[in-house]
Amino acid sequence: MGSIETLRAEALSCAKCRLSEGRTQVVFGVGNPDAALMFVGEGPGRQEDLVGEPFVGRSGALLDRLVSEELGLDRSSFYIANVVKCRPPANRDPLPDEVEACRPFLWGQIKHVSPAVLVTLGNFATRAMLNREEGVTKLRGARYRVDGRWVVPTFHPAAALRGGGDVVAAMRADLVRAWTSLEQGPSEAESIPG
Ligand code: URA
Repeated sequence: MGSIETLRAEALSCAKCRLSEGRTQVVFGVGNPDAALMFVGEGPGRQEDLVGEPFVGRSGALLDRLVSEELGLDRSSFYIANVVKCRPPANRDPLPDEVEACRPFLWGQIKHVSPAVLVTLGNFATRAMLNREEGVTKLRGARYRVDGRWVVPTFHPAAALRGGGDVVAAMRADLVRAWTSLEQGPSEAESIPG
């Protein structure tokens, strides 16, 4: 297995799907490559495509604030990446073949970072990690065991920007769930609701 930097270099020249045609930059991932906590979003938006970093727009500012307020962490202590690394045109949803083409990059990042806890932000990341059909509204409020890690689904911060107080409160509770899962360590074998 090469390094995460080798994987990044591969992603930067990737042309495996049509999203490569419209991108300004590949948005690979950022943060601590040895983090115990990793966030997974959907795909770059306009700002991210320009800057080359995940969650640098309004959604990212909200995410940073909630993580700082609930967990006291900043981006130097967690890792953050998206299901697809290139911006879908006009911010449309990523298509199944695009998610599939990018899968080796996301799973490669997870293997390299090897977080104890993965927080999935929104439907795409939650479905990608849990391989389930249901949306995040149904699946959040619990944590799931996947390949020896906890997956804690929560809303996408863009949904919190639209949805207001209740969605933000749910995200805060999910962040606390992620934190307690971190403290609990990787020994448990069950998926524990609540
Ligand atoms: N939304 C995402 O899912 N990812 C980003 O990087 C930015 C917005």
